[in-house]
Amino acid sequence: MSIDAAGFRLISTSVLNYRIVVPSTAVLFVGDILKLTDSDKGFVFYAKVTDITHDTPPGADAADPTLCVNLHPLGLVDHDGGFRPPITAPTNFSLVSRPDSADLDFLKRSMGDLEVGQMRAGLGVLEGVTVSLPSETLSSHMGVFATTGMGKSNFMKVLCASAMSLRKFGVLMVDPHGEYVTGYRLRDRRIKGLIEYTEAKQGISVYSTRPPDERKRYGLKELRLEHDDFRMGDLGFLYDLSLPLVEVVESLDSHPGSDVIDFFINEGVDSLPSPLKTTSGIGRHPEITDTLRTYALGPLHMIQRRVETIVEENRVFFHRYGSSIPAIIEDLAQNKVVLIDIPGVGERGELFALSTMTRAILNAHKQHTLSEEETIPQQVMIAIEEAQRVLANANQSTQVFRECVMEGRKFGVGLCLVTQQPKNIDPRILAQLNTYIVMGLSDQQDRNIVAGNAKQNLTSMSNEIQTLARGDAVISIQGTPFPVSTRIHLFEDYLDRLNVAS
Ligand SMILES: Nc1ncnc2c1ncn2[C@@H]1O[C@H](COP(=O)(O)OP(=O)(O)OP(=O)(O)O)[C@@H](O)[C@H]1O
Ligand SMILES: [Mg+2]
Repeated sequence: MSIDAAGFRLISTSVLNYRIVVPSTAVLFVGDILKLTDSDKGFVFYAKVTDITHDTPPGADAADPTLCVNLHPLGLVDHDGGFRPPITAPTNFSLVSRPDSADLDFLKRSMGDLEVGQMRAGLGVLEGVTVSLPSETLSSHMGVFATTGMGKSNFMKVLCASAMSLRKFGVLMVDPHGEYVTGYRLRDRRIKGLIEYTEAKQGISVYSTRPPDERKRYGLKELRLEHDDFRMGDLGFLYDLSLPLVEVVESLDSHPGSDVIDFFINEGVDSLPSPLKTTSGIGRHPEITDTLRTYALGPLHMIQRRVETIVEENRVFFHRYGSSIPAIIEDLAQNKVVLIDIPGVGERGELFALSTMTRAILNAHKQHTLSEEETIPQQVMIAIEEAQRVLANANQSTQVFRECVMEGRKFGVGLCLVTQQPKNIDPRILAQLNTYIVMGLSDQQDRNIVAGNAKQNLTSMSNEIQTLARGDAVISIQGTPFPVSTRIHLFEDYLDRLNVAS
């Protein structure tokens, strides 16, 4: 039964909670938005279904089964058509109906330019209400939260495709499994990749470690990092270091990566003179020698092994000279989506590449902003998958990412934290994210953390968040009237549409 046909009415209100009673045959879903027309006051209120129960209200006929529906107020549209917070309650018996696309013009006006999906209503979508993120909010950071398989990667691809067509900001994304670039086969389906967005080819740039023939076939550039892209401090988060090792690492952090690597690989700690000798300045790197000669050999050997491992593990892209980073920064400045395609490189290599690039991008943006004060900083979004690896609690966080979260906004550098374990991310970091994309989260603690930290409080939507299906999201953007239940486009369908449209 359609609720509009029956013209249900509000039976009880407070500013924080409305309640309607509908026949048990009415088809309503948690998360649905309802419109309450208060003709006495001339306001239209909007509220969201938060709970549906079988309570029979006092005085009702038990033979005539009803559902009691709790609504959470979203706000009201005043006489001038402006949307306001729900600071008053609708009159009892206000008419309850479903809003149509025209009713939601106030919501559409606050939407941005980066299309990601459609507003959800019931089991389907509300035709005509496209959900788009405002691109200018990206430098104030975003979180994408979902249990595995609920649609994080699909969302990221949709977002990147929209960015490729919009070309208003750069995106850097490391792709360790080749899923974003070329796609893959999943049983009988093809999960498509971003290079298949052929109509916006000039909006993407892929740096890859694949063999030359494969790179040529897909039009990918070679990925290279050079020794000077490395900082000794990188060892601090790539490995769990004991205190004596941390001291050694810190004492060398200001030296160019190429010097440190040359010293450990080619000269080695065994070449160090005894600390008792007064002669100094031995070998090609006298300053490093001088710094290190006072340390015990045990920790130095361990550090040496770590440096050797970094060079060895990443040899497919890590070389003495020749870095892709300047070209990557240039691509980002041209508002391209830059994918770092490193299939087969281990997790440590992935983090190494990502943190090195993030540091270089942040520094470049800092310099640019400081040198040309009036210009609006060019915007870049850096995506971090499994973000809990680098932004856990304070002392385990990686400095460069923490720095981006805390001050990246000033320089136009935003992070997009993708994680299935929001509870393992430092809450102070979560509090800095202005956009929340909440998808299905099976763990209650994760849901509570996300709902409590979003800029728009999502706690009244906990039932909805708990029951989100794959591909569905609650999107909370600071500056929009209320969190929007969204069906994220399936990337493959969106791509077909984009490729035809342009
Ligand atoms: N918006 C959507 N509409 C329809 N199907 C979707 C949507 N999003 C994801 N799916 C389907 O769900 C599957 C898993 O999605 P996806 O790979 O994006 O999940 P994930 O959260 O990245 O998982 P993982 O944690 O394993 O990386 C995909 O194969 C896709 O077909
Ligand atoms: Mg994924």
